[in-house]
Amino acid sequence: MGLCIFVIFASDILFYSTIMRTYTQLQAIFGQYLQDHRFTDQPINLYDPVNYILALGGKRVRPLMLLMSHQLFTDDPTPALPAAYAVELFHNFSLLHDDIMDEAPLRRGQPTVHAKYGQNAGILSGDVMLILAYQYLLRSANADNSYRLVDLFSKMAVEVCEGQQLDMDFETRTAVQIDEYLHMITQKTAVLISAGIEMGALIAGASPDDQQRLAAFGLNIGIAFQLQDDILDTFGDPEKFGKKVGGDIAQNKKTYLLLKAFEEADEATEARMRQLMTIRTQDGSAEEADKIRQVKALYEELGVRRQAEDLMNSYQERAFDSLRATGLPEERLAVIAGVASRLLGREN
Ligand code: IPE
Ligand code: IPE
Ligand code: MG
Ligand code: MG
Ligand code: MG
Repeated sequence: MGLCIFVIFASDILFYSTIMRTYTQLQAIFGQYLQDHRFTDQPINLYDPVNYILALGGKRVRPLMLLMSHQLFTDDPTPALPAAYAVELFHNFSLLHDDIMDEAPLRRGQPTVHAKYGQNAGILSGDVMLILAYQYLLRSANADNSYRLVDLFSKMAVEVCEGQQLDMDFETRTAVQIDEYLHMITQKTAVLISAGIEMGALIAGASPDDQQRLAAFGLNIGIAFQLQDDILDTFGDPEKFGKKVGGDIAQNKKTYLLLKAFEEADEATEARMRQLMTIRTQDGSAEEADKIRQVKALYEELGVRRQAEDLMNSYQERAFDSLRATGLPEERLAVIAGVASRLLGREN
């Protein structure tokens, strides 16, 4: 009995008095893990594009969110590292295919995989990354959590495909409601961020309630994150953004900016905008530049950027409500909360 009390007491001290790693430290740990797990197998034409896209870096938000969620409950990040890698592999797989679908020339300031290695490489190197993601995921699993981990990951992956299909369908659909847009971005973007955060908590052995609260935090951060991505796609600094600015306008994407602009415009302006957003233009053509310039000018005139930012902030607030609902001490939540806030003020 005495021993039992001591163990509970000691584990409590351990739980709350451990030194949490900073974001920079976790970045370094994950960066090293990536270095140590590069793909050196044959044929190199399959793995070169994989190493290329991973070496371009990116913010690595999803694996770091997973690791920060994990360290809310336990100190050693080691068991969560393969799952963090799985999430980053899945994300990069989705980018390879997304860039083909969106006809995107640039990613992380460099040519996209399909532009550099050809479309077949984009497809097959993407496919193998998805499979590798499952292999890494299983390395974080144990007898208690393996079913849940794979189930969570698979449900997430199906939803991402559903969101991507809706995103494509909306390009050619005229009437898209804002609710439908929010559902689409939840699926194509937010569920991955949410699942990563939930997996971090699951691997750490958090209670089912805390796993759900963190999943809700991730979902709302993810929605805010995609709203920010849409804003940057039109208003970002081409030097910093790393992708083609104006790409969403060029591809006739139904972003929040566009749907809100339709709502705010008078009839004649709305008709002009709808007409502009049916045109298909050539990448880099004068016609494309003109279309982007005109639509951007209308967004500015109608003040929709501000409205998108307000909506983004409201999702961020919802996210923080869920985070606080875990009841964890403020100082433990500070790392993940700080990163989430900074993320939504990002420039790339
Ligand atoms: C790009 O994601 C795709 C979206 C869901 C907006 P990121 O903005 O996280 O891209 P990287 O990984 O940092 O390049
Ligand atoms: C990203 O949507 C969603 C997925 C890759 C699944 P976007 O098409 O907006 O992403 P970016 O802007 O190309 O990074
Ligand atoms: Mg896309
Ligand atoms: Mg895209
Ligand atoms: Mg985008």
